[in-house]
Amino acid sequence: MHLTREEELVLDGEKGESLRRAMEILAALGDIYGAEKLIPISSVQIAGVSYKTIGPAGLEWISDLKGKVKVPSVLNPAGMDLSRWKEMGIEENFAQNQLAVVEAYRSLGISTDCTCTPYLLRKDAACRGEHLAWSESSAVSFANSVIGARTNREGGPSALAAALVGKTPLYGYHLDENRLPTHKIRVEADLKGSDYGALGHLVGKVVGSGVPRFHFRQRPALDELKSLGAAMAASGSVALYYFGDDAPFAHEPLEEMDVGPKDIREVYEMNAPDEDVDVVALGCPHCSPGELERLSSLLSREKVKREFWICTARGIADKCPHLVEKIERSGAKVFCDTCMVVSPASDRHRKMMTNSGKALAYIPGLCKIGVAFGSAEDCVRVATRRD
Ligand code: F3S
Repeated sequence: MHLTREEELVLDGEKGESLRRAMEILAALGDIYGAEKLIPISSVQIAGVSYKTIGPAGLEWISDLKGKVKVPSVLNPAGMDLSRWKEMGIEENFAQNQLAVVEAYRSLGISTDCTCTPYLLRKDAACRGEHLAWSESSAVSFANSVIGARTNREGGPSALAAALVGKTPLYGYHLDENRLPTHKIRVEADLKGSDYGALGHLVGKVVGSGVPRFHFRQRPALDELKSLGAAMAASGSVALYYFGDDAPFAHEPLEEMDVGPKDIREVYEMNAPDEDVDVVALGCPHCSPGELERLSSLLSREKVKREFWICTARGIADKCPHLVEKIERSGAKVFCDTCMVVSPASDRHRKMMTNSGKALAYIPGLCKIGVAFGSAEDCVRVATRRD
């Protein structure tokens, strides 16, 4: 990859050790993927925040870095609610290490919002046509597909390196030729809510790392696109999809797939809840204000009989205190800064019920517990049921 004179000086260590290490990561990535050069980016979203996933080696690596990020940068969910971790049953030792991780990122000038939905917090988190370096797979999918920005699915270290340098190598989804649809998906069903998570679960398995172009009967809502993209990124590794009129129609995808009501129904039937469910968790990706509102009305006049977590960004919860209060009157907990997949709080349970196609794919492997899938209404029914 070609480096400018200034970039070479950074690689030679003229601007300090942290920037040298960051540039080394970017240069290596650029060489591996055949990037022509580095390009400026407008924002970064950094995974590798939960102490459960990065452990002591990750904490040490981040703590060693010095300097400040060059572009607005935000963190992915951590392993716990940063203020209510005791209510999650998190152990003191884990909590102290997790707080140290977040502090190390903060000292680099990174916003500690800890969310996979930074686009819900700030409208300018990403704009159409901008180049970004985002990590979390559902955020990457939303940025590429719904916002129309351009980002690869960065690893934690490469996103952090991009944040420190303010640039990323030009390859992958930054280039037009890698953004062409590979699959045409005809959806012959009227879908709503978690059906999109079920659809993503099915399509991701078939498409893998391809670029699906959906043909829907009706245009999905933004929250539905959020869950569709998240599910496809988890059951496959889809980072970009098309769902509207902005697909490059001149290019005909190579493969076709039809999805009907029976296919969607089967996802629910194969993952139906049973008596083993001892925790219900929603908010993967993090809940929007609209989803919190829906849950507050589903839970009004209800009392939950098993643990019920709703995950969202702290900035969203702070904007809707009345909804949080209404939800928590039922006994459910609205946890911020974290999620059911990256928190060790999930690991002590037997089986989790969720309305998320992404959590459906990840919970068994990452938390080593069982998983059940249903709509938000089903989840509330199970959470409030007396066995
Ligand atoms: Fe977000 Fe955690 Fe799901 S990071 S997409 S809530 S697995």
